[in-house]
Amino acid sequence: MTADTLAAPRSPQVRKKGTNLEKWGWVYMRASGVLLVVLIFGHLFVNLMLGEGIKGIDFAFVAGKFASPFWQWWDVLMLWLALIHGANGMRTIVNDYVTGATARKVLVWAIGLSAALLILLGTLVVFTFDPCLGVTADSMLWEMCQG
Ligand code: HEM
Repeated sequence: MTADTLAAPRSPQVRKKGTNLEKWGWVYMRASGVLLVVLIFGHLFVNLMLGEGIKGIDFAFVAGKFASPFWQWWDVLMLWLALIHGANGMRTIVNDYVTGATARKVLVWAIGLSAALLILLGTLVVFTFDPCLGVTADSMLWEMCQG
């Protein structure tokens, strides 16, 4: 087999020792996919169909959801699973299509770094969100935020 031909799907594995990260990446895509179906469609159903539906979405709606640990964890789980899933999927595509070793390395690192940064920022937003931050006397939230 030369470098540009693929091994037959059922041929014996060359790698015998250590953790098979590619296999676990493959398993992760399936497992996170199943969880994401529940999380994403649950998210869409609650936000767009229940109560006043899409017309009910405003700052207060989001603030109300972020005040509940249940929705904080729902959203953070969705953020982590989808970002790692999306980044790992993009890594697969880059590995499949980018033939230059340097370009491939740069792109895979860029994907990893941007996913890590977005996960960090998103997690901080969900857990440190404070609707009263920067509220002034001319805001509708002023009264509520005095307590
Ligand atoms: C509704 C929930 C989702 C399910 C059930 C799902 C399922 C899957 C599965 C099973 C794969 C592997 C395909 C393969 O190996 O051939 C995959 C690949 C991928 N997914 Fe998802 N996914 C979901 C949501 C998402 C989201 C939200 C994103 C973006 C953040 C995303 C981005 C990707 C990418 C970029 C790939 C790689 C595509 C490729 O290899 O050609 N997916 N998805």
